[in-house]
Amino acid sequence: MSKILDLIDKLYETHSLSLDEYEYLITHKCDEATEKLRTYAVANRRKFYSNHVFVRGLIEVSNICKNDCYYCGIRKSNENCDRYRLSKEEILSCCNEGYELGFRTFVLQGGEDGTFTDTWLCDLISAIKNRYPDCAITLSLGERTKESYQKLYNSGANRYLLRHETADELHYSQLHPSNLTLENRIKCLRDLKEIGFQVGCGFMVGSPYQSVKNIAQDLKFIEEFSPHMCGIGPFIPHKDTIFKNEKAGDAQLCCYLLSIIRLIKPNILLPATTALGTVKNDGRERGILSGANVIMPNLSPLSVRKKYALYDNKISTGDESAQSLQNLKKSMHAIGYEVVVDRGDINTISKE
Ligand code: 5AD
Repeated sequence: MSKILDLIDKLYETHSLSLDEYEYLITHKCDEATEKLRTYAVANRRKFYSNHVFVRGLIEVSNICKNDCYYCGIRKSNENCDRYRLSKEEILSCCNEGYELGFRTFVLQGGEDGTFTDTWLCDLISAIKNRYPDCAITLSLGERTKESYQKLYNSGANRYLLRHETADELHYSQLHPSNLTLENRIKCLRDLKEIGFQVGCGFMVGSPYQSVKNIAQDLKFIEEFSPHMCGIGPFIPHKDTIFKNEKAGDAQLCCYLLSIIRLIKPNILLPATTALGTVKNDGRERGILSGANVIMPNLSPLSVRKKYALYDNKISTGDESAQSLQNLKKSMHAIGYEVVVDRGDINTISKE
């Protein structure tokens, strides 16, 4: 018992463990370790972000994708997916609604849709920046060339989310067709960082074929890459994929890993994801209580929310944005946290 508690102290003090030690933390997960990790994680988060929760307005710009990732509901070979792409006007109107509600970050997320040329995106990014100069723009549009990322950055985009999905080559090949490689994924992440984006990586908890060692590798990768943001959420099967009969990832393990990541990088921007809220009713609240400090409510038009189905039973597909934000504020307040009107950039200065 004391070995795991000692390892948690070591991680809290040095922000680093060996691969074997990360593996030990996961295989020996117990109530006492969970509690200790959570206490340290919440202390770390408080130092940099007090009890504030940053919100990001998620705009799901397109479910058209040229990729065929085995786990994903909007993969190109899914013929049951009702495809859509928002127009610039529709996206700007989502931003308008979001701004009024107090969002100061917009996340444009979508499949790798070929019509998203650099020119089209740069024009959109400039338009958003012009109208809302006090807002941050986060992109989550998949793999592109470094030249393309540079143009998007120059137009005013600030952050980029690109989950690495898994840090193990073999596991990567079990989740993706062979034209997609871990090597290129990592190259994209490095390019984004070099350009100056605030960068987010991340992975699914409990994805098919994932071993404990794989999770340890993910943690080591996060430690070494040191991203500004990290998105982790349970894998959830989608009925039109080859993984339809696989079981969903575990919410408790996901929260445990959120705490570990908060110890690896105390000031990281760490969302309690929609997927976590989907596998467990109070998943997002539990995520916040485990050390997360970001929530990404949906700002997409109601008419497309169900169509942007990466997995089955995604939450809040029916609520108006205003209503769901109101509910979120209440549920955060109830656990002692406060949703703030703020861009929510990474904080590098500890308040203590
Ligand atoms: N379950 C959970 N998360 C998923 N994602 C894609 N498909 C699923 C699924 N079935 C995640 C991937 C991707 C992010 C946008 O959504 O990690 O990077």
